[in-house]
Amino acid sequence: MILRFLPLLFIVAACSQPPASKSEREHYFLTQVKPVLQEHCVKCHNGSLPPPSLNLTTKATAFKRSASGRQYILPEDPDCSLLISAVQRGGTHPKMMPRTEVSLTDDQIGMLREWIEDGAYWSEGAAGTLHAQKSAENP
Ligand code: HEC
Repeated sequence: MILRFLPLLFIVAACSQPPASKSEREHYFLTQVKPVLQEHCVKCHNGSLPPPSLNLTTKATAFKRSASGRQYILPEDPDCSLLISAVQRGGTHPKMMPRTEVSLTDDQIGMLREWIEDGAYWSEGAAGTLHAQKSAENP
């Protein structure tokens, strides 16, 4: 009897972690999220595409809604965030981006999902202002 409920206990234990503190969230944004967006997305999503296209250069623009009324980033809900459906293989968004130009690893997609699940913290001021960055993969 007890054994039947053990797996359930495990799930509850795994989900009841204390929420990350503000400094942990800020660290995650600055060291994980920002570099990936800067290397893979900001080259195009920098305000140069005509509005209401996604502009990932600041918190204020990134959290706007798309033309369809859906949010690009819906805190705590990666499955309803267009940003995730646009980069995820098998994503549901009809307006997929040119695949060849954008390919994130499963780890990077998982990292973005986790960031949104945890509230999608985005720094204020200069730290939260993104600039396109070149990389080996994205020259
Ligand atoms: C080579 C240029 C380019 C790159 C790089 C790029 N995109 Fe896009 N993306 C576009 C274009 C063009 C569209 C279609 C116009 C629009 O709706 O913004 C688009 C559309 C989108 C949309 C859907 C917008 C909507 O209204 O439905 C999302 C979300 C998105 N991109 C996220 C990203 C993310 C996240 C990255 C980085 C991993 C990225 N894009 C990288 C060009 C790019």
